[in-house]
Amino acid sequence: MTKHSSNFKYRCIDCGREYDGSETMYLCPDCSKLNTDNQPPKGILKTIYNYSEIKNQIKGFTDLESNCFLDLLPIKKLDSLPVLKVGNTPLYKFDELDSKQLSFDLYFKDDSQNPTYSFKDRASAVVSAYAKEKGFETIVAASTGNAGSSLAGLCAAQGQKAIIMVPETAPIAKLTQIIMYGATIVPVKGTYDDAFDLSLKATKEFGWYNRNTAYNPFTIEGKKTVSLEIFSQLNQQVPDRVFVPVGDGVIISGVYKGFEDLLELGIIDKMPTIVMVQSEGSDNIVRNMDHDKFEAKASSTIADSISVDIPRNFYMAKQYIKTFNGEYITVSDNEILQASKTLSKNTGIFAEPAAATAFAGLLAYMSKNKIDDKSRNVVLLTGSGLKDLKSVNKLLDIPKSVNPDSDSLKKFFEKKE
Ligand SMILES: Cc1ncc(COP(=O)(O)O)c(C=O)c1O
Ligand SMILES: [Zn+2]
Repeated sequence: MTKHSSNFKYRCIDCGREYDGSETMYLCPDCSKLNTDNQPPKGILKTIYNYSEIKNQIKGFTDLESNCFLDLLPIKKLDSLPVLKVGNTPLYKFDELDSKQLSFDLYFKDDSQNPTYSFKDRASAVVSAYAKEKGFETIVAASTGNAGSSLAGLCAAQGQKAIIMVPETAPIAKLTQIIMYGATIVPVKGTYDDAFDLSLKATKEFGWYNRNTAYNPFTIEGKKTVSLEIFSQLNQQVPDRVFVPVGDGVIISGVYKGFEDLLELGIIDKMPTIVMVQSEGSDNIVRNMDHDKFEAKASSTIADSISVDIPRNFYMAKQYIKTFNGEYITVSDNEILQASKTLSKNTGIFAEPAAATAFAGLLAYMSKNKIDDKSRNVVLLTGSGLKDLKSVNKLLDIPKSVNPDSDSLKKFFEKKE
């Protein structure tokens, strides 16, 4: 199926001004004029569809789903998406943790099963498809790793050119992916913020399409597909809680946006409680939730993907959390490491520290609150543990080698016990 004209408009989350969807836009031209260094950007655009028209055209959620949610995407045809399988990741239910029966339903949405092993593929797929339809041949992104490796991979699948600007400190596995996928990697002296600013300059100067998180409104549109899938996988039921690991605040906004689209269409009538989980060492959204003026604190955490000084989608995340009574919690690096281990040994899913942060959030939440019996709780696992092996080094205790005979093996196990 092909849609003939643009089926959406942009709405600025700060001034409310609306812009025609036929233009390629990033930030609201009015509000972004006031943006300054060391402050999150104002003027983030939300993509708004013609919900009443969609409502008239569909009989229900199943109709939306049978067309892979094209009605709720800013692209004209599904063929523009990469051939790689993005999204439709498993939702696993576990009844026990450490051999203890849980009184509530615990689900893991395993987004490490995306082609480049992270949630970021959802955003890259939609951005890449849009670029294809609009005739952009080159896409640039600033990234701490996952968004860059994701864009590189999906552009490789689509025959597009990817330019990835990374801070000097990105983990080696993610850099390796970027290079193996054939993208041009530009290490930038300084931080993620420096790489971000340079990519904006390049976008203006060279006419490349920009995939920077939140700056490109379609990153949120790609990410929202996770909520549509969760709703479907729960047999069209809204979960009670979704635990989301948060750095820039784009994934969490995507999670909200997916459910918000369903609210707009009258398919659901309540928003789940979204629980924002940040690392104590990188808590710039949690700490600023009730401040009038945003104050950045230098971040430092083992969860590199959520180590963010200036959250790029601070205002949208805050708006969603306030509007829909979201909750938030922080966890220490040690809790993240322990959660990572608990997750792997209980489920067989090895998540990167940023992803394990969501699970650490659930464990911390459980210790502070009674989670209602039978409530449905989803933990978003956003990336694979193989992407950042260095962070879990501390947990590794590789035994000395044994002689290849049965006696040595027996001794080995005796010692262990
Ligand atoms: C694995 C992983 N988890 C969580 C996040 C957090 O997403 P956001 O920065 O949109 O809050 C990221 C973002 O880089 C990520 O790569
Ligand atoms: Zn505006």
